[in-house]
Amino acid sequence: MNARPIESRDVEPMLEIQSASPEVAQWTAWDYQRVAHGEMAGWVVEENGELAGFLVARRVANDIEILNFAVRPETRRCGIGGTLLRLAMEWGTQQGAEKALLEVRASNFAALQFYERRGFQVVGRRPRYYVSPIEDALLLSTDMR
Ligand SMILES: CC(C)(COP(=O)(O)OP(=O)(O)OC[C@H]1O[C@@H](n2cnc3c(N)ncnc32)[C@H](O)[C@@H]1OP(=O)(O)O)[C@@H](O)C(=O)NCCC(=O)NCCS
Repeated sequence: MNARPIESRDVEPMLEIQSASPEVAQWTAWDYQRVAHGEMAGWVVEENGELAGFLVARRVANDIEILNFAVRPETRRCGIGGTLLRLAMEWGTQQGAEKALLEVRASNFAALQFYERRGFQVVGRRPRYYVSPIEDALLLSTDMR
C-alpha cells in the first residue's frame, strides 16, 4: 500500500472510484484538479500500481472538514480507508485543528460504522441535505488527538 498526496494524474481514476460510490458527493474533474493544485488537502492510496482510494479535506476555521472520501469497492475493508483517515487526522493535528467534521448520508451504514469505530460521534442532522435521492445528512465530529 502506497499513500501520497493527490496529483493531476489521479483525477481520472478518482472519477472512476466516485462513479462506483454513489454514497459520495459527485464532483467534477475540475473539482479534483483544484485539489491536485493544492486548493484543498488530499491523499490517495495505491495498491499494486492502481489507485484504490482517495480522501479530500480542508481547513475551516479551527477545524478540518472531510469533504470527499471513497475506496474502490473491490478493495474495501482492507484498511485503505483507515490509512487515508489517519493521514487526514495527522494533517489536521499539524494544522492545529481542534476537531474533524464531516457529513454522511443517514442511510450510509458502512461509513457510520467506520467513523464510529474511529471515535466520531453524531452531533447533528441536516434534513433533506442530499439530493438524488433526497436524504438527511448526519453531522459527525471528533476531537483531534
Ligand atoms: C467508508 C469507506 C471509505 C471505508 O473504507 P475501507 O477501506 O473499507 O475502510 P477500512 O478497511 O479501513 O475499515 C473497515 C472498517 O469500517 C467498518 N466498515 C466498513 N464497511 C462496513 C460495512 N459494510 N459494514 C459494517 N462495517 C463496515 C468496519 O468497522 C470495518 O472494520 P472490519 O472490516 O474489521 O469490520 C468505504 O466503505 C467507502 O468507500 N464507502 C463508500 C463511500 C463513502 O461512504 N464514503 C464516506 C462518505 S463521508
